[in-house]
Amino acid sequence: MELNIALLRGDGIGPEIVDSAAAVLKKTAERFGHSIHFTPCLIGGAAYDETGEPLPKETVDKCLASDSVLLGAVGGPKWDDLPGDKRPEKALLGIRSALGLYTNLRPAKLCTALRSASPLKDNIVGDGFDLLIVRELTGGIYFGDRGYREGRYGQEAYDTEAYSVTEIERIGRAAFEAAMKRRKCLCSVDKANVLETSRLWRKTMHALAEEYPEVGYSDMFVDNAAMQLVRDPSQFDVIVTSNMFGDILSDEASQITGSIGMLASASLGDGTRGLYEPIHGSAPDIAGQNKANPIATILSAAMMLRYSFGLSKEADAIESAVDSVLDAGYRTADIIGDSPSAPLTCSEMTEKIINEL
Ligand code: IPM
Ligand code: MG
Repeated sequence: MELNIALLRGDGIGPEIVDSAAAVLKKTAERFGHSIHFTPCLIGGAAYDETGEPLPKETVDKCLASDSVLLGAVGGPKWDDLPGDKRPEKALLGIRSALGLYTNLRPAKLCTALRSASPLKDNIVGDGFDLLIVRELTGGIYFGDRGYREGRYGQEAYDTEAYSVTEIERIGRAAFEAAMKRRKCLCSVDKANVLETSRLWRKTMHALAEEYPEVGYSDMFVDNAAMQLVRDPSQFDVIVTSNMFGDILSDEASQITGSIGMLASASLGDGTRGLYEPIHGSAPDIAGQNKANPIATILSAAMMLRYSFGLSKEADAIESAVDSVLDAGYRTADIIGDSPSAPLTCSEMTEKIINEL
């Protein structure tokens, strides 16, 4: 198979972790007889510095011409004072929207080898947890009308949330389908006791639930969901929610695994092209020091092979290589815990995984 992959390295540790994942992809392609071609593109602060735009048109065109996209991370203090539409984060929203990627899959699984890293007590973690957040990614308040206006107390800023039945239905369907492939349990998170968009969300989800009688469906308010995630995370299989609620809850879910440097994500639309990225950010404090944990990006590359190319054997191979390296006790600094050995650098960890392949 021929794999044409756009590489968006971005800012901070982005370049290091994307190069690591690209090396792992290259090795996997060699082993399984695929030909792989990478197209590097600028995004985020790095793109702004070079072109004056965080998401140059050339980057969008190259991504559209590729089969799939691997992204590192964007942003950093250097660009924090730029106006909203020039900020690196805007590029992330822009590329998701330009590629029509409305479904964001964010798995949060307690990795048994790293169990002690979870901030939750043993009696809460129990036998572990394995949940998937399905976040709506191209609508809601992050994309709504915004601006400044004269309000009751003078000048005010505003943002608005809008959701159409079409947008809710397509993300709902993606979530029900994901649940069908897992433990067949779906919890839809909203704030239907306050928000009109949430009431439409809930009504639309209920109609969809009729089409999936095998899936155990429930609703939960977002404030309660935030609490339930730390009280008893194993009650969840798949959670589906809006853009902003999903943004917030997915950070919480990743933190309770204790190893945010391990968590991958996929953003998908109607076709097979997706955007794959680690859940963590650009970590400017350790950028360029070869200290970053490349595993989340490597596992994102595995997700790409599985979801965009249907190459599940290849994805399994990467995932088990990562497991073996962890089982052998190798750790980067972020997951070192109370291990007596010295942490591996980003490139050493990458090499261990490649050797395992
Ligand atoms: C994320 C990030 C982004 C988002 C920001 C950087 C725009 O927080 O991927 O969760 O809100 O989607
Ligand atoms: Mg976020």
